[in-house]
Amino acid sequence: PQAAAPAVSGLGFDAIAANREDTVKVPSGYRAQAFLPWGTPLVAGAAAFKPDASNSALEQSRQVGSHHDGMHFFPIDVQSGGQSSDEGLLVMNHEYVDPDILHAQRASELPRPQQEVFKELMAHGVSVAHILRQPDGQWALVPNSPYNRRITAATPMRMSGPVAGDDKLVTRYSPDGTMTRGTMNNCAHGFTPWGTYLTCEENWAGNFANTDSEQPREHRRYGVRTNHSNYHWESAEPASDDTDRFNAAVRGGDASQDYRNEPNHFGWIVEIDPFTPGSTPIKRSSLGRFAHEGVVFAPPVEGQPVVAYSGDDSRFEYIYKFVSKHPYHQATASGELLDEGTLYVARFNEDGSGDWLALDINDPEFIARAEQAGVEFSSQADVLLNTRLAADVMGATKMDRPEWGAVHPHTGDVYFTLTNNTRRDASQVDAVNPRAENAHGHIVRWHERGDHAAAVFDWDLFLLGGDAGTHTPGTGGEGVTLTSDNHFACPDGLWFDNRGVLWIQTDMSGAILREGSFGHNAMLAADPETGEVRRFLTGPVDCEVTGVVTTPDGRTMFVNIQHPGEGTASAGFSSHWPDGNGARPRSATVVITRDDGGVVGA
Ligand code: FEO
Ligand code: CA
Ligand code: CA
Ligand code: CA
Repeated sequence: PQAAAPAVSGLGFDAIAANREDTVKVPSGYRAQAFLPWGTPLVAGAAAFKPDASNSALEQSRQVGSHHDGMHFFPIDVQSGGQSSDEGLLVMNHEYVDPDILHAQRASELPRPQQEVFKELMAHGVSVAHILRQPDGQWALVPNSPYNRRITAATPMRMSGPVAGDDKLVTRYSPDGTMTRGTMNNCAHGFTPWGTYLTCEENWAGNFANTDSEQPREHRRYGVRTNHSNYHWESAEPASDDTDRFNAAVRGGDASQDYRNEPNHFGWIVEIDPFTPGSTPIKRSSLGRFAHEGVVFAPPVEGQPVVAYSGDDSRFEYIYKFVSKHPYHQATASGELLDEGTLYVARFNEDGSGDWLALDINDPEFIARAEQAGVEFSSQADVLLNTRLAADVMGATKMDRPEWGAVHPHTGDVYFTLTNNTRRDASQVDAVNPRAENAHGHIVRWHERGDHAAAVFDWDLFLLGGDAGTHTPGTGGEGVTLTSDNHFACPDGLWFDNRGVLWIQTDMSGAILREGSFGHNAMLAADPETGEVRRFLTGPVDCEVTGVVTTPDGRTMFVNIQHPGEGTASAGFSSHWPDGNGARPRSATVVITRDDGGVVGA
């Protein structure tokens, strides 16, 4: 293997200007090349991508999905302790679909044609791509590799942890509540110390309709829709069990005869073993049920519990931490560590301290607070199904939309993006969410008092988003004042490379994106030690920049570009990236390298 990246700090590139070009721009001395766009033939026997989007649902199920998001690079030899930077499995999420881009000519009237709905289900989920660096330095998919795989919104999966087998999981598909079908709205991701991938279910609730006059709390608190689902999937004709499940209304008989409980199968973190082709993905219910943005692990310590952080990306929702019951041992660690443990929710106090509050039906304080609030939980499964309600009961801090988290590889400090919250009014401002009508978002940071399983932490604000001139005081130093080289809004993706450089990706939409001073969505690099922040990459028209990882040597970076040209099909597409020449836009990965072969960002 090549030498690991040098442990030096500092940013070694010139910032690029905010701009509105329909391309991916990177600093001089770097190159950026589109890779694995939506529709790329992935699995053996897959059809070629048809530029007019006329591939069928079955063809889509063997091609790369749409709306690329969180991703991880697993060195091909990682399970034997290797660090290959030339070959590996690139595993990525496909968050959602834009039906006007996904279909050649979308049917304009209801009911939805079954084959359109099937194609939308097949474009969601996860891709596993076995990739290899060629002698000329370019990366290529390994054709017909047994690792190449699509996981979709219809892939059979298993439930595990306290919720598996619960009555509230019984459906026509899963009469004993242990099996489930598919994963959706896979936003950010995580990876475990034992070499598996975690995909996180974020905005799943909008895919269900429950038209009953009263919804159960495990639907209502999450925003299951009361009229029809976002994409009208439940209307598909001809009807089938695969689409009927998006209708969560009670339809007579018992729960094993309809899909009243289907929404309870979503909102989880799903573990996928990319090195075992055909392995069954597992939904790990101990990590809670909410709009999981992503999940990030603290560095594992032999003999100590594993600790993982996850944000709930919705206005006024929370940040959580899972601490395993059993200790980590490198030789034997597996996903079973995620099945027993304690889920905590964060309270950020006004004095800069913070507390982790256990959501545990056996914890006397939790029982007392629930009684005080007049809320009943019948079991730990009930607590986990209603994670948001349990966090309300404990008086956790309502945040400005928690998105990605990242753990500093040297200091252990935990960073989280809070993307924005324009609905916070002046009376709701607190120390950790300090701005009313927070349109630009910010990044919070904390240090656990003790190891990562500690019950108490100390926090500060790392960086406020905003126009040039926006100042973040910082704790101790002079703080940071944004300039035209680094002003940004709506931080979302967040990742530390192994040098300790923090990569920040933005997800502006609406007027800020179209008319603000920020240009297109972008990726910045920040060095928490020196206080430098610099814009590194800008994306094409109407895209989000989300998902970033490098090879272990730091010399190849992968970044995802999501939904260029979003919502503009009727106007002939605002973006034609990456194919150009008037083509339909496609979400894609970008491979970034330095002309001199050096470490990206150094
Ligand atoms: Fe899918 Fe919260 O971004
Ligand atoms: Ca996101
Ligand atoms: Ca976002
Ligand atoms: Ca997006």
